[in-house]
Amino acid sequence: MLNVSEFGKKIAEASGISRLMEDLGHALSSGRDMLMLGGGNPAHIPRVQERFRESMQKLLESGGEFERAIGNYDPPQGNKEFIEAVARLLADEFDWEIEPKNIALTNGSQSAFFILFNMFAGTFEGRTNKKILFPLAPEYIGYCDVGLEDGFVASKPEIEHISEHIFKYHIDFDRINITDEIGAICVSRPTNPTGNVLTDSEIEKLSELALANDIPLIVDNAYGTPFPNIIFTEAKPLWNEHTIVCMSLSKLGLPAARTGIVIAGEEIIDMVSRVNANMNLAPGSLGAAIATNLVRSGEIIHLSREVIRPFYEKKAGDAVQQLCDGLDGIDFHIHKPEGAFFLWLWLRGLPITDHELYERLKKRGVLIVPGHYFFPGLKAEWKHKNECIRINYAQDKEIVSAGLKIIADEVKIAYVSA
Ligand SMILES: Cc1ncc(COP(=O)(O)O)c(C=O)c1O
Repeated sequence: MLNVSEFGKKIAEASGISRLMEDLGHALSSGRDMLMLGGGNPAHIPRVQERFRESMQKLLESGGEFERAIGNYDPPQGNKEFIEAVARLLADEFDWEIEPKNIALTNGSQSAFFILFNMFAGTFEGRTNKKILFPLAPEYIGYCDVGLEDGFVASKPEIEHISEHIFKYHIDFDRINITDEIGAICVSRPTNPTGNVLTDSEIEKLSELALANDIPLIVDNAYGTPFPNIIFTEAKPLWNEHTIVCMSLSKLGLPAARTGIVIAGEEIIDMVSRVNANMNLAPGSLGAAIATNLVRSGEIIHLSREVIRPFYEKKAGDAVQQLCDGLDGIDFHIHKPEGAFFLWLWLRGLPITDHELYERLKKRGVLIVPGHYFFPGLKAEWKHKNECIRINYAQDKEIVSAGLKIIADEVKIAYVSA
């Protein structure tokens, strides 16, 4: 057993999610053809990938651009041209008063959350242990282990039953209590794992709460507008000086480029840039190099609206239809898919745990993610946590369809044999 610091133990901890990711990795390398409905990989959309290929080709063929992109460190704030292009796009699109000084890049937005959560939660002035508030759990699994101190609290949602088998979570504002111990509020919108899109009124209320308590509201816009725009409802995006919006090129189709975009007040951007310098010297440049012209020309908006959103919306509709047919007779509820690319399936009264269902599905060659991992900060016992699973429907039609068929079958077996 290595003798390492408290920091070392916490950061290298074999957390639930790291164990699960290893499990997924082993299952995939076992030689069996697993149906990958777990994980958070975006689809490979041919029309989008073609545009990235063309962009890369231009970079390679133009005199010296490729060499500059790979041969120089960017500043710690990130690639200047890309930041300028993003600032202009956001200002034009939403009338936000954004300038380049309001944007920093990170190596994926995951690392932005590591920086922000540890900046706004933890020990303050040697005493208060501040926490990040997730006003609505379930929330993104990736938040669970980025806080170095035990830094999260979360609230149970209200559940609206829209129809017999479709429901939607809402923030239960009666449960939200912002004490001195809350350092920031954070939501993903659209939400991973549920596909929920918080309403404009919920976001406005959170923004008012943040302002009134002088704390930031962090909005994780990894799936949101204006890119990748995997959002199937109308939702007004929000930014102001006490809101931090985190975006990413990953769900657009560039997860390997590791490009996160933080939009915030100048002071926060300066801090993120300095952390970048300390941790990485500079954020990687290739994602920015591939995407700059797409952002400058506005084509990224066109691709997101005309190609990416309809692609996922169709897949969501097909997946819901198949599950509804396959689960006939079961007390199942699907969160209304309003964005992202997951179905959140609530199996009310499931006689086994979500983990047992995950194990049984894995034996039959289907990978999903058990729901209980998606409640960071929610300590209360709640049966619901073990009655849900997350299904990624981004993969090819045949894979998703074969996976959903097995899921429906195994769920029925679980109810019938109880
Ligand atoms: C809600 C949400 N936020 C952030 C991330 C992190 O993405 P990346 O680090 O690739 O930008 C993900 C990835 O799955 C996500 O689903």
